[in-house]
Amino acid sequence: MLNKKLIAIASLIEPKDTVIDIGCDHAYLAIYLKIEKLCKEVYASDISENVIKTAKENIKKKNVKIEVYLSDGFQNIKNNNINTAIISGMGTTTILNIVNKAPKNINKYIISSNNEHEVLRKEMIKKDFYIQKEIVVKERDKYYPIIVFAKDFQKESNLSLKYGKSNSREYYEYLEEKEKSILKRIPKKHIITRLKHLKRIKELKKLQK
Ligand SMILES: C[S@@+](CC[C@H](N)C(=O)[O-])C[C@H]1O[C@@H](n2cnc3c(N)ncnc32)[C@H](O)[C@@H]1O
Repeated sequence: MLNKKLIAIASLIEPKDTVIDIGCDHAYLAIYLKIEKLCKEVYASDISENVIKTAKENIKKKNVKIEVYLSDGFQNIKNNNINTAIISGMGTTTILNIVNKAPKNINKYIISSNNEHEVLRKEMIKKDFYIQKEIVVKERDKYYPIIVFAKDFQKESNLSLKYGKSNSREYYEYLEEKEKSILKRIPKKHIITRLKHLKRIKELKKLQK
């Protein structure tokens, strides 16, 4: 029922967590967390009425009790017990808009953004969330970084902010190839931009050692 990415997200949940899956879609992840008793409590939410309808049907089919909210981000979620938010399958801009309006009790995020991972890491650090853990999952030839941000201050290295903390050689190799193909398309006269990408290639090579 769960894809590789959602299984990986579930593996990052701890028994002490009271979780909300924001943008739950089918609610498979919330159902899995509930059935496997992987956390204290789990809630699910989505911005789409149709999605919520399907999520509720799936929850009913599995005969479990999960409270589901129709909500844009945290807007309609008035539950002070929730301390962990999963936000997966959206772009960084949407994710940061959601995080910007989060209640204070959220001290851990498990985020899998579709894009702009460097921006996401840098913006989360500005909000005093450090990178507790990062893993990368590959599914159907696509790489999905999954980042656990925890509330606390910890200085992150520039390389961690740029490329994450997954230590996945395969993922760094993929990022290096991406940089190389970008470099190929930059005209020779754009020296500064070319140097920027050359530097990234060098850094990514270093991370693979
Ligand atoms: C691609 S699905 C991802 C489903 C699942 N979380 C995953 O990672 O596989 C994105 C879901 O996020 C929901 N969504 C988008 N913007 C949202 C927002 N601002 N607040 C809550 N849900 C949102 C969409 O309706 C959709 O169901």
